[in-house]
Amino acid sequence: MKRVAILISGGGSNMLRLIESMTGDHPARPVLVGANDPGAGGLALAAAQGVPVFATDHRPFGRDRAAFEAELIRQLDAAQPDIVALAGFMRILTPGFTAHYAGRLLNIHPSLLPKYPGLNTHARAIEAGDAEAGASVHEVTSDLDAGPILGQVRVPVLPGDTPEELAARVLVQEHRLYPAVLRRFADGNRARLDLDATLTPTP
Ligand code: GAR
Repeated sequence: MKRVAILISGGGSNMLRLIESMTGDHPARPVLVGANDPGAGGLALAAAQGVPVFATDHRPFGRDRAAFEAELIRQLDAAQPDIVALAGFMRILTPGFTAHYAGRLLNIHPSLLPKYPGLNTHARAIEAGDAEAGASVHEVTSDLDAGPILGQVRVPVLPGDTPEELAARVLVQEHRLYPAVLRRFADGNRARLDLDATLTPTP
């Protein structure tokens, strides 16, 4: 059974979907949820699922990312994770951290990578006049949002979409994509998974 730790910064809706997916004959189980913000709403959701939680506030570390990450690694490694899944974790990680978890560190990003790494992905897709947006799950390497892509879901951009409307439509599909990719990854399957939101009803 693979042990999965999840890092969040906020509401944790992807985290909750990952936790809920890891039951029955799933090859993995959630062992820990951590946040860089003690106020992250997802911590209570994880605790309510019976998953141990921790918060390491990044702010007291100031610009010392390495010291913040050393504490994060200490907390994570106590739970002996086979896989660390970033789910709305909004801190940039140094090469020291990504190397420590090389080959077992996943992230979900709300764009069709390699388009729009970084922030404000939905506004940038609308601004560019893209017909499609989406989300990607990828392995995390030292290059921001640029590791090998494990799965993508495509979502139509509708006329008049605001960034918030598009983000909500993409998020629903993130909730399909991330559990599906995690399950395959835990099984040792790193082949790319492509989902298309137009093939399924969207709210
Ligand atoms: C998700 O849309 C995720 O793709 C995005 O943050 C949101 C978190 O929502 N992640 C990033 O932008 C990473 N750079 P959640 O807390 O409800 O899962």
